[in-house]
Amino acid sequence: MSATNDTNHANGNGSAPAWSPSSWRSKPVKQCPEYPDLKALRKATAELEQLPPIVHPHEINKLKENLKDVAQGKAFLLQGGDCAELFDYCRQGAIESKIKLLLQMSLVLIWGANKRVVRIGRMAGQYAKPRSSPMETVDGKQVPSFRGDILNGYHLDERELDPQRLVKAYNHSAATLNYVRAALASGIADLHRPLNWGLGHVKDPELKAKYSEAVRFLTDMIRFSHTIGADKSSEISTVDLFSSHEGLLLEYEESLTRLMENPAYAIPGEETRMEYYDTSAHFIWIGDRTRQIDHAHVEFFRGIANPIGIKVGPTTPVSDLLELLRTLNPSREVGKITLITRYGADKVRELLPNHIRAVEGSEYKGCVIWQCDPMHGNTRSTGSGVKTRRFNDIFSELQETLQVHQEEGSYLGGVHLELTGDAVTECVGGSEGLDEDDLSTNYTSFCDPRLNEKQALELTFLVADHFRSARADLK
Ligand code: PEP
Ligand code: CO
Repeated sequence: MSATNDTNHANGNGSAPAWSPSSWRSKPVKQCPEYPDLKALRKATAELEQLPPIVHPHEINKLKENLKDVAQGKAFLLQGGDCAELFDYCRQGAIESKIKLLLQMSLVLIWGANKRVVRIGRMAGQYAKPRSSPMETVDGKQVPSFRGDILNGYHLDERELDPQRLVKAYNHSAATLNYVRAALASGIADLHRPLNWGLGHVKDPELKAKYSEAVRFLTDMIRFSHTIGADKSSEISTVDLFSSHEGLLLEYEESLTRLMENPAYAIPGEETRMEYYDTSAHFIWIGDRTRQIDHAHVEFFRGIANPIGIKVGPTTPVSDLLELLRTLNPSREVGKITLITRYGADKVRELLPNHIRAVEGSEYKGCVIWQCDPMHGNTRSTGSGVKTRRFNDIFSELQETLQVHQEEGSYLGGVHLELTGDAVTECVGGSEGLDEDDLSTNYTSFCDPRLNEKQALELTFLVADHFRSARADLK
């Protein structure tokens, strides 16, 4: 058996310049940490290079197959989790509550959209955060900004960059994903156990009636499929949860990128096909601040076989969008790229149509997944300087996005949310009626404000309702 190793370009474009997991190092790089101790950095990356992959190409391929269905309008993508995952979130309770919430949300979406739902957690590796400034002022003193647990610690005495945190990030990712796999395999998502839909906080009678109808439907559906034994083999019993994070820290991503056989081509007697897989997660994305075409992040991402995301916002020129697609997906693999749009409720109507027209009017028509991130364009500060988001702004961006896609004839294939299964008070609004005075009750995010369990479920009900009304209009 012989092996092909297309080091020229892992995406199969022979005319692209040579690529390797380290070729990003020859490009300018944004958000780059300046480690004071390079010897310690080399020691940490050498250690990572010896460790086994966190995810396997077989799983990455499986996600790619699922995402192809999303791009073609046959499935819907739900992606969610913390803004900044901390090493401390690697705990049984925190992991379980996130899995359960994502599962519950996906059931609501199945009910609303009448489509299979693909689930990706922003977890098991979401440890690096882009910052607007490397320094910040705390208590009148200039200190290095907190850049995520993979780089430094939140406490003031841990703000120096520590390369051993790269290895710690690997260990915490692996432990988190290990428990996700074990919990799913052992039936944490077992639908025979009653789910807690907790709708007591919903005061609006019309909303409450809608939610109750959905919950009744879902409970009946689960009971019915159990009665006829269909749940043993149906979509809802085999729960997959894929992992994702922003691929910000390229030293880490490079160390976990491995040339491995693509299992889809493992046919006896045939040539094997080798590809570079970033084995740190199933899916990684390029953030809003690091997507410059001629810079390091785009260079790194163009060579890996994983499905990838690109954040798209008010600062994305239409021409950049096509150039990014041509650079990152020259072979036009369907579902390879998810465009994660995040404009802000007041800008989406003005900016999204041109982005859609540019992509869907090009050779990439039908090729990408459009996913709405209604969080990152809607962050604001309260009068007393607390970072928050209004539930209504989040819902409004999502609703406008759904409407614009409907008008343009494109498919909104997914949502990307910052959420937690815990009862935090970080975003204002929703049926619980949280206001600015409530924010201090349980504000625990070290980065952006997240939807709590109730707010996340409520948002999902509203999206599901949109899909149901759209389907009813077609009848
Ligand atoms: C994020 O997803 O946490 C983030 C920083 O988003 P963006 O790159 O869109 O600002
Ligand atoms: Co964020």
